[in-house]
Amino acid sequence: MSCTHPAAPRKQYRGEARAAPVRGEIGCRDAAPRGKLSAFLRPKVKPLRPDPAFDRSQTRPREPSILYFGTPVILVSTRNPDRTANLAPLSSVFWLGWRCVIAANPTSRTSENLIRERDCVVNLPRDDMAAAVDRLALTTGSDPVPQNKARRGYIHHADKFGLCGLTQAPAATVGAPRAQECPVQLECKLVDARQLGAGQPDMALAPYAFELRVTRVWLADDILAQDDFDRVDPDKWRLLMMSFQKFYGLGPQVAPSRLATIPEPLYRGPDHERARHEPARAP
Ligand SMILES: Cc1cc2nc3c(=O)[nH]c(=O)nc-3n(C[C@H](O)[C@H](O)[C@H](O)COP(=O)(O)O)c2cc1C
Repeated sequence: MSCTHPAAPRKQYRGEARAAPVRGEIGCRDAAPRGKLSAFLRPKVKPLRPDPAFDRSQTRPREPSILYFGTPVILVSTRNPDRTANLAPLSSVFWLGWRCVIAANPTSRTSENLIRERDCVVNLPRDDMAAAVDRLALTTGSDPVPQNKARRGYIHHADKFGLCGLTQAPAATVGAPRAQECPVQLECKLVDARQLGAGQPDMALAPYAFELRVTRVWLADDILAQDDFDRVDPDKWRLLMMSFQKFYGLGPQVAPSRLATIPEPLYRGPDHERARHEPARAP
């Protein structure tokens, strides 16, 4: 009988060195006493309680279903074909300079809108806005709901700004609206879209990675540095994070940072200048 505990060592990959059996590792057969009575009394699903012998300094090959180790939550607003607005929570995002990369499912209304309209607003909620974000979870602006989402319990919602109680505000350089209550709103234009695993037939539903150029940055006054209104004070900025599908906030700074000795203006690049000359849209 093989060990079926979720944390039990999984079967070896080809060419992988066999790890020595570790006594007391959670889920390991050796951890439980043997015998018919103990097998009868043993619960079917063992609680994930670390055994004192469990070695925290060890890492072992595992096979988690998802690798969502923690990223900021964003609310991406886009325009629908009928000019109404869509708003979607995403958490696949990073920034380099005034470029932003986000990833979204190809069947999402956001991907369709972004590819067609070529612009969006990336809104960043604060950690105390988790309830509003959660109201958008398991909803899509797509009608009908794509099969892959219907299977996971998604429902269609046409007015997602209304659903989560956020207010639409006009953007200056893009057609999509800003979410007024979010302390950070980044107007963005689509530069490039690439599907992950492109060309592999079994990756047809893989997400798109969208490269966005930031054309206008809106910041709430209460997250700005006291001596420089073009700088965010990280001690004041409390972003909302998603880790393994759950919401978290940031704790306080844990250690001094040598990287932070680099003056922020040294990160300025040609996209800052491009954004200054970005034509304003007619209201
Ligand atoms: C906190 C949170 C983070 C999410 N992150 C992503 C993500 O990074 N990429 C993605 O495709 N979907 C993500 N989703 C699911 C999308 O919200 C979902 O695809 C939704 O249908 C998008 O809305 P739309 O179809 O109206 O564009 C996330 C959902 C939540 C609640």
